Order: sequence, then C-alpha cells, then structure tokens
Amino acid sequence: MPTVSLQVNGKSVTREVEGRTLLVQLLREHLGLTGTHVGCDTSQCGACVVHVDGCSVKSCTMLAVQAEGTEVTTIEGLAAADGTLHPMQAAFREHHGLQCGYCTPGMVMSAVDLAQTHGHLDEKTVREGLEGNICRCTGYHNIVKAVLAGAEAMRAGVPKAAE
Ligand code: FES
Ligand code: FES
Repeated sequence: MPTVSLQVNGKSVTREVEGRTLLVQLLREHLGLTGTHVGCDTSQCGACVVHVDGCSVKSCTMLAVQAEGTEVTTIEGLAAADGTLHPMQAAFREHHGLQCGYCTPGMVMSAVDLAQTHGHLDEKTVREGLEGNICRCTGYHNIVKAVLAGAEAMRAGVPKAAE
C-alpha cells in the first residue's frame, strides 16, 4: 500500500493507505479526527471541508495520497491549545450560527478561508462564498451573521489559534 506523509494540525503523520482512500477517511478513520463530517460523500454538502495548505478543500473529493507533503488543518486544529475558540468559532456560538451542528465544522473552515482571502466581507460575498456548504437547520441567516462577525473579529486581531 502507498504511504502518505503530511502535517495535520501541526503534527507530522505518516500512514499506509489504499490508493483509493479519501482524505476525509484518512482524517476520520486513521487519525480519529471525527470533527470533520461526511454528509454526502459526493462533493455537494461541504460538511467535510478542511484546509490544505491554507485553502478550504472538500476532503471527500481528494485522495489521501494527494495530500502528500501538505499541511492540513481540521476543525480540531482551529482553537488555541488552551481551548480558546478561534474568533470564527466564537462568532458561531455567539450568533447562534448552528443548530444540530452537523454542517458546522465545514461551515467554520470555509468561513475562515473566506475571511482570510477577502479584505472585507459583506453579506453577498458570504452567501456566495458559502454556496458549497449546505445547512438543513438554520435557514442560513445566523450563519451569515456569524461569519460577518467572525471575519470582523479576525480582522481586529483577536487572538486566535495557530493555523
Ligand atoms: S461530505 Fe464532502 S461535500 Fe459532502
Ligand atoms: S446546523 Fe444542522 S445542518 Fe447546519
């Protein structure tokens, strides 16, 4: 079987995987990082979004072997070591941006990337930027509010996790 070596949440990992193993399977089944969810397995829902070299990626669309040499951040790697939430996580909590929470890890990871790649976020940009993330619960309004607030907190330099 092929071997894949990468950084996950700042730690070096090497695992033997089948060629067909998806990145999300490596994270959840080999590394026990079950914060990354699988909603559809077909690139539609966004529950599986992680960052690969700083960019959001649907981890059900990428083979584990394609992540060779990359730096992957999952939702588990977003908060600070002392448990202080990342500003985007704090904003989702503050603004009730979740109900069942199934979509939330992917929403938060996509939102952080969105905030990092735009100087300033407005509602339209957030709604368009999260088109690939589906939520069956919230109606999206509070998610959008949370992302706008989280992005503002990130811009304001609120202390956040190593990412
Ligand atoms: S599980 Fe990857 S997009 Fe739905
Ligand atoms: S909070 Fe339930 S799917 Fe989004």
